[in-house]
This record gives sequence, C-alpha cells and structure tokens, in this order.
Amino acid sequence: MEIRKATDTTGAEILGIDVAAGLDRKTAYAIRKVLDEHGVIFLRNQCITPEQQVDFTRLFGEPDINFNALRFGIDGSPEIYIISNINKDGKPIGTRRAGETWHTDMSYAKEPAAATMLFAVEVPTLQGLPLGDTAFANAAAAWDALPTELQDAINGLRGTFDFRGRKRNSPVSAEDIAKYPPIDHPIVRSHPRTGRKSLYIVRDDCTSIIGKDAQESAALIEALADHIVKPEFIYQHKWQVGDIVVWDNCTVQHRAILDYELPQRRLMWRTTVKGTIPQL
Ligand code: OGA
Ligand code: MN
Repeated sequence: MEIRKATDTTGAEILGIDVAAGLDRKTAYAIRKVLDEHGVIFLRNQCITPEQQVDFTRLFGEPDINFNALRFGIDGSPEIYIISNINKDGKPIGTRRAGETWHTDMSYAKEPAAATMLFAVEVPTLQGLPLGDTAFANAAAAWDALPTELQDAINGLRGTFDFRGRKRNSPVSAEDIAKYPPIDHPIVRSHPRTGRKSLYIVRDDCTSIIGKDAQESAALIEALADHIVKPEFIYQHKWQVGDIVVWDNCTVQHRAILDYELPQRRLMWRTTVKGTIPQL
C-alpha cells in the first residue's frame, strides 16, 4: 500500500489496494489511519459489487441506512443510496442535487454520519474531461489556522443546526422534518478517534450560535464558514469511473460541482457510517 497526499492540507490517494479482493486487518487499520490523518481518501480503478462496498464501509464503522434509500436504493443492499441525474422509465433513479452548497453530512442529526463513501459507476465528461467534481475543505486545518484569540473566543460555543436551513431541491417529508428537529452541536469539535479539533459550522445548516444575538450569530457563522473554504484548505476531486472516495464528516466539509447536464450521466453509490454525538 502506497499513500500520496492530494494537497498540502487535504486528501490522500491510496494505491496498491484491490478492495474487491478483501483486506486483512492490518491493511484495514492502516487505511482508516490514512483517513483519520487526511480527512479524505481515494482509491482508483476499483471494481466492486454493492455487497463489497457495504463490507468496505464496515471498515470505518457501522453502515447506516439513509432515509432516501427507500426511494433511491439498490435491491438487496439497503445501505446503498444512489446519487444520480439519470432517469429510468421517466423517473429519477437517485438524488440529482446532493449537496450543492458546502456542508458536512447529517449535521442536523443528533449523531451525524461519521464518514461517507461514494463509488463512481458513471462520471460525466466533456471532450474526455471529467465533470461533476466533489470539492472538500479541511475544517481541522481551518481551525489550526485561526488566531489563538479567536480560537479561545469560540472554543466551547454551541450552534443550532436545522434540517430546513439548507435549501434542498429534493422533497422533504413531514415525517423527516419531525425526525430531525433543530439540534445544537459544539461549533468546535474533537475528532472521536484522534482528538484533533475542527470547526463545525455550516453556513446553511447552522442557523444560530447559542448565547449570541441574531446579528452577532450571523456574522460569526459567515466569517467562519468563509474561512473553512479558503483555497489552502481545499482538495477538489476529479472523478474517474471506479473511484472510491471516503470522507470524514468531522474533519472535512464538501460540495458537489453541478457543471454537467444530461446526456452527461453521473451515477454514484453512496454509503454512510453511523456517527456519535459531537463533543468539544
Ligand atoms: C453526498 C454529497 C457530493 C457529490 O453524497 O453527501 O454531498 O459530489 N455528494 O455527489
Ligand atoms: Mn453530502
């Protein structure tokens, strides 16, 4: 197994691994460590079945079942949820616009997803160039780069996160809204395995800072959300068919670049790993 950093701050490619062949414990542990260190990992040229993706997901924790998998699932693998712009028999086979704005998965939940994995089945291209990149921003590096006075001022603050804050293009049922009432999380959180701190603040999902008035809240959310996505903290993944990308939702935020249209097709299989309650 060989590791190549993607940028100075964010992401790493893991080479020399065939996920379909299965992994021994030592390799599995080493892969998880690379994710802990770099926030995003990717493995190219993989050829896996849905079952093998779910098995690989288990390496990072317990696979979750997304509420969208009922509509956009794969028969026999309820852990997989399809992200796609493809229609079949006039109906979408997956969520088309998953995460156009910067976010971290399920921050509106009491126990947000620890990690998310996408497997690229189809990648849109233009003249052979990949479209539909996914950008990642390292919120731990962003925390490290803050001046000490600002770190001290925000360490320990909590923010309200609300499912309905983000403008979602896919319909959200009353049942889902009832399942995810507004919740508060620390806006600086420690990684459950490494203890490394990250900024945990998302422009649209984080609707206020507890103990601050509306104006102060909005100004702080804006400033920190802008800080996290500065160029030095970003890795933008250019997809190839057969890529497996895994990201840590405590360490990085991400966003989908929607620069393609049918007949340019994009199809990803998505799995998530259950997380724990974010801690300061
Ligand atoms: C997601 C997501 C981005 C993409 O699946 O959580 O934000 O590029 N996806 O598909
Ligand atoms: Mn997402």
